[in-house]
Amino acid sequence: MGERRFYHGGDYNPEQWLKMPEILNKDLELMEKARVNIVTLGVFSWSMLEPEEGKYDLDWLADIIDKLYARGISVDLATPSAAKPAWLAQKYPEVLRVGANRVREKYGNRHSHCYTSPVYREKVRAVDQALARRFGAHPGVVMWHISNELGGECHCELCQNAFREWLRGRYGSLDKLNEAWNSAFWSHIYSDWSQIESPAPHGEGAMHGLILDWKRFVTQRTLDFYRMERDAVRELVPGAKFTVNMMYRFDGLDYYKFAPGLDMISWDDYPTWHKAGESDEEIALKSSMMHDFFYSLKGQPFWMMESSPSMTNWQPVSKVKKPGVQMLSGLNAVAHGADAVMYFQWRQSRGAVEKFHGAVVGHDGREDSRPFRETAELGKALEALSPIAGALRAKEAAIVYDVESKWAMEGAQGPRNIGLGYWDEVMLHYRALQKRAVTVDFVNEDGDISGYKLVVCPMLYMLREDFCEKLRAFVAGGGTLVLTYWSGVADETDLCRLGDTPYGLTDVLGLRRLEIDGMYDGETRRCVPVSAENAPEAFGRVLCEVAEVSTAKPLYKYAEDYFKGAPAAAVNFFGNGRTYYLATRFEPGFYSELYAKLAADLFDSPIKQPLPEGVLPAKRGDWLFVQNTTGEEAEAMDAKLPPYGTLILNLKTGERLIY
Ligand code: GAL
Ligand code: ZN
Repeated sequence: MGERRFYHGGDYNPEQWLKMPEILNKDLELMEKARVNIVTLGVFSWSMLEPEEGKYDLDWLADIIDKLYARGISVDLATPSAAKPAWLAQKYPEVLRVGANRVREKYGNRHSHCYTSPVYREKVRAVDQALARRFGAHPGVVMWHISNELGGECHCELCQNAFREWLRGRYGSLDKLNEAWNSAFWSHIYSDWSQIESPAPHGEGAMHGLILDWKRFVTQRTLDFYRMERDAVRELVPGAKFTVNMMYRFDGLDYYKFAPGLDMISWDDYPTWHKAGESDEEIALKSSMMHDFFYSLKGQPFWMMESSPSMTNWQPVSKVKKPGVQMLSGLNAVAHGADAVMYFQWRQSRGAVEKFHGAVVGHDGREDSRPFRETAELGKALEALSPIAGALRAKEAAIVYDVESKWAMEGAQGPRNIGLGYWDEVMLHYRALQKRAVTVDFVNEDGDISGYKLVVCPMLYMLREDFCEKLRAFVAGGGTLVLTYWSGVADETDLCRLGDTPYGLTDVLGLRRLEIDGMYDGETRRCVPVSAENAPEAFGRVLCEVAEVSTAKPLYKYAEDYFKGAPAAAVNFFGNGRTYYLATRFEPGFYSELYAKLAADLFDSPIKQPLPEGVLPAKRGDWLFVQNTTGEEAEAMDAKLPPYGTLILNLKTGERLIY
């Protein structure tokens, strides 16, 4: 690594083909043709690597790694902990996960182990070290892929005890814990640590502080397991690099907490291209947003570890990618900071649950199939674009996405229990910024917001003292803050803030919250602009907050019901900066207007004219990518973009490429 080039490749499962050497030889030949330079190996190979307890058979893998290396193909070597051999589960039932219902799972599927079990940890450590010993020094192994899509939780007795220990470390005493959880509610005062149990459908579901801490504990437990695996390898391979493949909008874990311990962020991107009722622009935006989130985790390029070369087989309806969409989605990842474009999977398996999942090489084994041809084309493009690899993105705007805050907000019974639509809210801001080519990062409350010009807080329900201070300093220092309804409500153990809210920000915002009204689906509340002539009416939905202004200037007011006259949107000047407060969720047009204005004020955008519907920009380093997400030709930036085509413009040299 180090040199400027993109990685191109994907998950390779030779263990499914060991009895057909001609297929394995063909793979090498085809990989070269598809310009593959990396494969992920061994993710689900445990039962082949250790067919009997303590008896390792690594020769087949060594042979494959050597052959790949001879062809210039690197390896992202996985530890096999995501799927255990049957013998292991049979001999040591404690390794099987226990559900929230307290029922222990049977052997089957994958990702179903306990993260605490000492036996599981010991067996994983042993197989990881066998791999590290054999392959740690192999020049072809450039990355270690720990496990697979970490996630899930276990409620076994071992995990319950670990939870209690973790709580003891966090609170020190039961008194403090009872206070933090407001345990006097429904007579919950705990008098012994052993009384505390994880949430259960037939047990605890009312103590929000407990439920929130359980989620934190699950992240800690999983992270601890990750570290155990990483250290097992690192002990023997001091220079090893590590990644874990993360998932789309997955909030079972707080990914921010993983970032410092990883060398490379990677994630698995499975957009629902061509979904009925949703534009491909919207679908591209959803992936773009995740690319931006994963870039933000370390402020560094990431790997798109998995993506389907044609269809998935687990979505409700599995559409194939239309011609050109493979290129579009690969370059979209690159535009947002990916240094690797990888697929699941190289060769389509013959049996079991993924036999109809898309692959570069299908059951027909042909190289003139569409997925193969389009993969090879993308591989060629990535080679030509290698100067872009490693390029960083400018720091412009940040959206505050704090996982703990989202857990707390969604765990609370409140103004709308039929769904708060958190991601819908985030997308409204993201979409409008993205359309103006503003580079968006994501930060949580541990993050540093000082380098940004614009910070957006969509529904920042839980507002920690220290982050509140950061927001104040940010605005006082000249920053622009956009903050929505249902922010600054609770503290970090989900105790409601006493006194005026949004907590700690009433002077920064120039207003205080009086009430918040839940809205039924489809229910709207009409809002009118205060001064701007010809500005359109707007409609509030989902949640409508009522505020009383002190210094803020209303931009929109509610025009209906007893809310009439209360601010629906307001601006306030504080120190050298300003804040925009949005009391409700408007339609997309509202955000386009707002962010068009802010983008023009704050950023020097290469996009002077709004881009046509379906065309999306993104900046990376010196390059501007302009992508046509539609099946029709489009015109943008004085160029004709073919269906699903991408224009790449070097903003320094003026060089233009079209794919
Ligand atoms: C991912 C997983 C892969 C494969 C893929 C299919 O979530 O990591 O192993 O199952 O989905 O889309
Ligand atoms: Zn457990």
